[in-house]
Amino acid sequence: MSTISINPPPSLHRWKHNYSILCSIPFPSKKILFAGTQDSKILCFDSTTYTLIKTIKLGYQQQQQQQQQQQEGESNLNDAYTDKLENTKSSVLCLAKSQDEHYLFAGGADSLVRIWNIDVEPLKTTSANNFNPGNIIIQEIAAIYSTIDIGDIFSLTYLDSTQTVIFGSQRASLLYVSDIFNSKICSHSYDKLPHVRYDKFFDSTGPDGKKPVSVSSPISRGISPCLANSNDTLYDGINNQSSVIIEVPSENIILYAHNGFIYSLCQYENNLEHNKKYICSGAGDGISKIWTFNKKTLKLEYIFQLPYHANTNAVKQDAFEIDGDTGEDDEDEDEDEDDDDIVYCQAVQFPFLYCGLNSGIVKIYDLNTRQLVSVLTCGTTDDVTGIVVYKDCVFVATKNSIFKFTGNSDRYKWDINGQLGNILSMSLFSCEQICKNCSRLRLVTGSNDGSLVLWNITDLVDKKLNEYQEYPHTLKCIDFNNDHLLQTLKELVGFQSVSSSSNINKYLIDSHRCATYLVDLLNQFGASSKLIPVLKGNKNPIVYGKFKANTTNSGKKKSILWYGHYDVIPAEDTTSWVTDPFKLTSENGFLKARGVSDNKGPLLAAIYAIADVYNNNQLQNDITFLIEGQEESGSRGFFEALNNNLGKEESFDWILFSNSYWLDQHIPCLNYGLRGVINSKITITSKESDRHSGVDGGVHKEPTTEIFQIISKLIESNDKVLIPEFYSTLKPISESELKNFKKILERTNIDHTIDDLIVKWTRPSLSITSMSVSGPGNVTVIPKSATVSVSIRIVPEQNLNDVKTKFITYLENNFKKLMSKNQLFIEILNEAEPWLGNPDNRAYQIIRKEVEDVWGTEPLLVREGGSIPMVRVLEQHFNAPAIQIPCGQSTDNAHLDNEQLRIVNFFNLRVIIHNVINRL
Ligand code: BES
Ligand code: MN
Repeated sequence: MSTISINPPPSLHRWKHNYSILCSIPFPSKKILFAGTQDSKILCFDSTTYTLIKTIKLGYQQQQQQQQQQQEGESNLNDAYTDKLENTKSSVLCLAKSQDEHYLFAGGADSLVRIWNIDVEPLKTTSANNFNPGNIIIQEIAAIYSTIDIGDIFSLTYLDSTQTVIFGSQRASLLYVSDIFNSKICSHSYDKLPHVRYDKFFDSTGPDGKKPVSVSSPISRGISPCLANSNDTLYDGINNQSSVIIEVPSENIILYAHNGFIYSLCQYENNLEHNKKYICSGAGDGISKIWTFNKKTLKLEYIFQLPYHANTNAVKQDAFEIDGDTGEDDEDEDEDEDDDDIVYCQAVQFPFLYCGLNSGIVKIYDLNTRQLVSVLTCGTTDDVTGIVVYKDCVFVATKNSIFKFTGNSDRYKWDINGQLGNILSMSLFSCEQICKNCSRLRLVTGSNDGSLVLWNITDLVDKKLNEYQEYPHTLKCIDFNNDHLLQTLKELVGFQSVSSSSNINKYLIDSHRCATYLVDLLNQFGASSKLIPVLKGNKNPIVYGKFKANTTNSGKKKSILWYGHYDVIPAEDTTSWVTDPFKLTSENGFLKARGVSDNKGPLLAAIYAIADVYNNNQLQNDITFLIEGQEESGSRGFFEALNNNLGKEESFDWILFSNSYWLDQHIPCLNYGLRGVINSKITITSKESDRHSGVDGGVHKEPTTEIFQIISKLIESNDKVLIPEFYSTLKPISESELKNFKKILERTNIDHTIDDLIVKWTRPSLSITSMSVSGPGNVTVIPKSATVSVSIRIVPEQNLNDVKTKFITYLENNFKKLMSKNQLFIEILNEAEPWLGNPDNRAYQIIRKEVEDVWGTEPLLVREGGSIPMVRVLEQHFNAPAIQIPCGQSTDNAHLDNEQLRIVNFFNLRVIIHNVINRL
């Protein structure tokens, strides 16, 4: 069989943890995914927003131990060593769940099986859009221990009907406890478990007579109950009061169930035997055995062992009926067994059992006939570390590659060399549809570098289901769910729709493509849409799309404008980007790409929110999207194009937009003010050419000297701009606004004083933002021309034209005073009117309440120092108040490298808009 190398399927998300990911288990009905780590944690991810929502910490009482070490004055080196040792003492090696996804089970290096109750408390919001799994409540309810030393627990399975936990150990024993929820409590304290004991190996003194650093007394090795906590949201608290500690009855320990570590346990129902349940164990002896749980005797019974070779008859049921506690079996007769074979993992797709072994071997057994029916080889010497099956597709993970086998056909593989460490675990799930015609199939791999990757393997399984296939998928296959939204965002950020570059022609085509994509999308969603050309200066077109109300709300229909922009800041120097700026990446709960936050992400959240309501025939207001492609370069030509192309009858009651950020990473904000801006370029040129300072120095008035002279007249210090009457119209900040600013500082942790906020948000400023000269920049060359860029931020009490005229006149006057033969040029690059909304109006009240409901905390009412040229212009033109709903966090890095947007913020903006749109 030959191997066909294929491109990796799209990886939808990648999380990075500091330690190996040893196992994972999806709870698709709860939209969550658990992963067990080497450092004794179970990470709980929201599989829709890809956010780490909870971390369950297992293991040893580290704090107590650290204190003890401090008292004993041990060195830092030892601390680090001990940390590592203690961190990994309860490595989570296997996970299991109940069928209804109510219970989570974990087994690990601390020889305990822990059981949690997994509950979901729905969020308050009643939106149809509610993608969120809700508030996940994790409660530890039990821990199971064995009185005899079993070593690590490598495998685990749970039988729902008898509430039986079965687990396989390093010391080759199989253990089980049935009726676990009615079990007697056997111990009340973790400290009393047999694991907390003197260990000959760990606890004895070393050859030098000193105690080993790892452990100083039994108590420091005490196993503690788990802590479930969440990253930055709610703290679940320790819920161990109700947790019980259960001992495995000695008669339920099958010693030497195998001749090797029991790496794998799985179960299946035989539908030829009235769905009778069986359990398969796979072990370090290279063998898979079949067991069943007898509901009458409540005993685990050995049934048969699967054969080594295709031609051996291995039905041993009659010959080897064995008793639970003397489960040694007789394998000597199998002479030519390969002693080195190891079964690492198993998967069942009845009637077949798939066993992943060492050296890239996969054995397939027919569980009915108990025959080895096929052996697949990966063509590698690496061990099989994970195996999953879907329909007739087998996915096999080895160290560096994932293989796909289908029917009898070829062997496909994709390599992950060097990107994701070595794969240690794999799981599979399918979930809610991305669109009506496409199913969603996900592969989850965990690696030894701590990465957990979510692969989209839909296409690999069924070619007819073309998810994420050809571009643009979203325009072919319309849907409104969040996966579709993410896919559209992926396509949208792929356009290099840069508007503010000196190399603008380079981006013109992509910008027009981007506009076309958006107008198509709006059309597909049912909006009447068109492109409005911006002819003056041959700029990027404006996308217009109108969703007409489906129903009227007793004649009070409102008309709402959503303003946004599809153009982005360039990302030409990619040295400090960790990913390709025009490829959407989704990692650790964040999306990364140029434009995700400013402004493609928020814009799409709004489009999907409205399109969804409209598609459900519930839109009660008219919503018009105006999406421009020149915002980042000052919206030149926007207004004229609009005036020439928008019907005179077009009117709006509210203007909504989302193009700013939270003040910090935690508290949602509503924005009601922006500063304006005047960006200018000031150049002084001489008629001379570039000259030598030795040959010609002192003869002429030099442009560089003169530009310093006139620029120095503009500003004395950051709070003293010298343009005449620059501050004359300003009013002191009102008492109520001051109160609000103080409240903001009380609620946030930002490194700002009240004066900082006042200055940034309510005071004008002047910044010299760049300086350049003609010529080679050599220290002995007198440049022929010198240029300085000046950015002036203005506030609502100032008049833009007034400031601009005074600025220009003032510069010109100062230049005249120099009596120079050189020439002065002042170019206004772009400008923006300041904006001050009314946070007390009805729209703000409604949105405020909704933001609070969605985020669980009242939003801060903030102003911003940045500018959006069209906000005030649209407000004035349509005589409609504007409201801004910031989407991302302070860490979004808009305009900078590694621009990002947290996925929850993205989806929550959508929910907010969805829920308020009919109420405005
Ligand atoms: N999203 C920003 C506006 C912004 C910046 C809001 C900072 C809040 C904080 C917008 O896309 C932008 O970049 N505006 C430019 C406008 C300029 C090019 C006329 C700005 O503020 O520099
Ligand atoms: Mn911007």
